[in-house]
Order: sequence, then structure tokens, then C-alpha cells
Amino acid sequence: MKNILITGGAGFIGSHVVRLFVNKYPNYRIVNLDKLTYAGNLANLKDVEQAENYHFEKCDICDFDRIVEIFKKYDIDGVIHLAAESHVDRSIKDPFTFARTNVMGTLSLLQAAKLCWNGEWEGKRFYHISTDEVYGALEFDGTLFTETTKYDPHSPYSASKASSDHFVRSFHDTYGMPTIVTNCSNNYGPYQFPEKLMPLFINNIRNGKPLPVYGKGENVRDWLYVEDHARAIDLIFHKGEIAETYNIGGFNEWRNIDLIRVLIKTVDRLLGNPEGASERLITYVTDRAGHDLRYAIDSRKLKNELGWEPSLQFEEGIEKTVKWYIDNQSWIDNITSGEYEKYYEEMYANR
Ligand code: NAD
Ligand code: TYD
Repeated sequence: MKNILITGGAGFIGSHVVRLFVNKYPNYRIVNLDKLTYAGNLANLKDVEQAENYHFEKCDICDFDRIVEIFKKYDIDGVIHLAAESHVDRSIKDPFTFARTNVMGTLSLLQAAKLCWNGEWEGKRFYHISTDEVYGALEFDGTLFTETTKYDPHSPYSASKASSDHFVRSFHDTYGMPTIVTNCSNNYGPYQFPEKLMPLFINNIRNGKPLPVYGKGENVRDWLYVEDHARAIDLIFHKGEIAETYNIGGFNEWRNIDLIRVLIKTVDRLLGNPEGASERLITYVTDRAGHDLRYAIDSRKLKNELGWEPSLQFEEGIEKTVKWYIDNQSWIDNITSGEYEKYYEEMYANR
């Protein structure tokens, strides 16, 4: 029996990790701890919420006392920490929230684990999910981020994640806590909040709204299907070496504008629009401040040591993703009504 605390389980990646663990490990007790911010949505977990091994605790990761209570209540022996503020554009507008949640929240969890595990590290694990953005930006020169690339974050989001990574490693080095950190590239797939590129653009194409391309659309990202990330997390949680770092990536680099054209083609085809009809929606807008040019991950260590590889071809992943958003319009309509719509209109008007 394992009692695993998954933080941020109501968010995009967290919901896929919770689903995988609840279904694959009926003998584990899976506790989803989430504050349910604008990005957290229990509708993402409708299909597993009745499972006997699934528990939900609405809690802020900065609330140290409650976290300690939850650790004791469920006798937690493993943590998979995904809860975070995750959107770069929001971090540019409001960096304090990012420092609070991503840095102080991570520290609260670490302190709670230290207190409750009390130096008995056997069978324990604190696994922190991070991003490739901590490494900064690459040029168009074919180089890749490896596990030893120097940290060089540029946005308040990546700076807060870098700081949290350092705190996690410090708890291993100082107290001996069994920690693991992984740094992953851009994820895509079902249940992603529609402020991120793919779901935002799919939804805007469906509604005939402008597609705001930052700058010239030349920035490059390395895209990984979210279920492949969840599989990597499962493997690393069980088989990864303590104190190690693993990079997780798709070996799948795309220039934004090329990716956007593929999205337009796919959405138009699946909606029965004439081919390329939505190209007219492409709107070049002011670039994001400090916009990192290129991210690309070298995940050979994970492949060589633990045998993980992305399972989906990108074309297949895009098809599945676009289909999912078209088939689940009520999910996206619920999220984009009300407060978010106001926020988005304001954000877009400022560009
Ligand atoms: P998300 O924004 O979709 O979800 C974040 C979740 O955390 C939400 O459910 C939210 O309610 C919860 N949360 C936020 N603040 C909280 C707090 N103070 N207390 C408790 N819960 C809180 O994010 P995501 O895209 O699923 O990312 C999950 C993790 O993976 C993050 O740590 C992110 O940095 C990392 N990551 C994301 C990507 C990506 O492409 N999305 C890539 C690499 C790493
Ligand atoms: P995003 O999904 O915000 O992820 P990240 O910034 O963490 O990589 O953005 C992906 C890329 O798409 C990034 O280069 C910024 C760009 N982008 C746009 O051009 N327009 C948009 O409206 C958004 C949200 C992103």
C-alpha cells in the first residue's frame, strides 16, 4: 500500500497523472490536493472521482498547518508535486502570486514532509515536477537542454520554478530527503486551460476569433503529448534514482507559426470548413516581454537509463487533441465564460 499525495491534480497535467495512478494502482491511496484556482477544475476528473482509492482535499500548498494535517490523515509516503501557477503571461502581470505559490508553496510541502517523515526516509519519495524553461533560451543552432545545462530563467514564471527546484534539491543535500526533479518541455492534449497556445487557438478558430501570434511567430517549442508525460512521471516515481534530475521532451520542435498552420488545417478539416479558411484569423501582435526564442530538450538520459520514449507521433497527437476539444465544447465553454472571458479580452486588448 502506498499513500500518494498528488498536488495540482485538478489542473491540466495533474489530472492526467491522477487518472493514470488511480486506474493503474488500485492498491494505492491517491490524494489529490488542489486549491482549485482558475486553472483547477474537478470536471477534469469526473471519470475517476468515484473510485475507492481516490480522495480530494481542497487546500492551498502555502497552508503549512493543513498540509501537515493531510500528511498525517493519510499517512503520506510519496509526493508528486505539480501544483503551481503555470502561465508565463500571467507571471509578467503578477509575479508575486508566482513567488508565493511556486516558491513558498513548494517550501511548505517540503517542510511538512520533513516534519512528518522525521528522518525516516526509507520508502519515501518527494518528486517535484518542473519545466525546461528554467534553462533559459536556446539559439537556432541545434543545441539542446541537458540535465547539466546551467539555470538561466528569464520570466517570473521560470524564475519561480527555478527557485523551487533549488529548494527541492537543497532538502536532499541538507536533510537527506529522497527527492527527484524532472524538467519537461511544453505539454499539449485534453484538459489544458485555454489560455495556453493550443487550446486557445483551437477554441478561437472554432469561434472565428483572432489568433494572436506573438512577434513574428518564429519562437520554437518542443511539444510532448500530456499522456506521455504522465507515463514518464509514473516510471520515474517508481524507478528513478534519488537525487537525480531527468529531462523529459518530445524530440519534437516546432516554430509557432508552423504549428499554428497545422492546427488551422486540422480544425478546419474536422469542422468541415474549406481548407485553410481560418488562415485569415492569424493576427500578429506585440511580442511577449522577454519571450524565450527556443526550447528543446535532450531526454536521452531518461531513454537510456529507464527506457522511456514518447509514444505518439505528433500528427496523431494533434488529431487526438483537436478532436477532443471539438467533442468537449461544453468543457471549454464552461471555463471561458465569466471571469476568464473578461481577463482574456483585457489581455488581448493590451497587445
Ligand atoms: P495548470 O495551471 O493547468 O494546473 C495547476 C494546478 O495547480 C491547478 O489545478 C491549480 O488549481 C493548482 N494550484 C495552483 N496554485 C495552487 C496552490 N497555491 N495550492 C494548491 N493548488 C494550487 O498547470 P499544468 O500545466 O498542469 O502544470 C503542472 C505542473 O507542471 C506545474 O508545476 C508546471 O510548472 C509544470 N510543467 C508544465 C508544463 C506545461 O506545458 N503545461 C511543462 C513542464 C512543466
Ligand atoms: P504557451 O502555451 O503560453 O507556453 P510557454 O510560453 O510556456 O512556452 O506559449 C507557447 C508559445 O506560443 C510561446 O512561444 C508563446 C506563443 N503564444 C502566442 O504566440 N500567442 C498566444 O496567444 C499564446 C498564449 C502563446
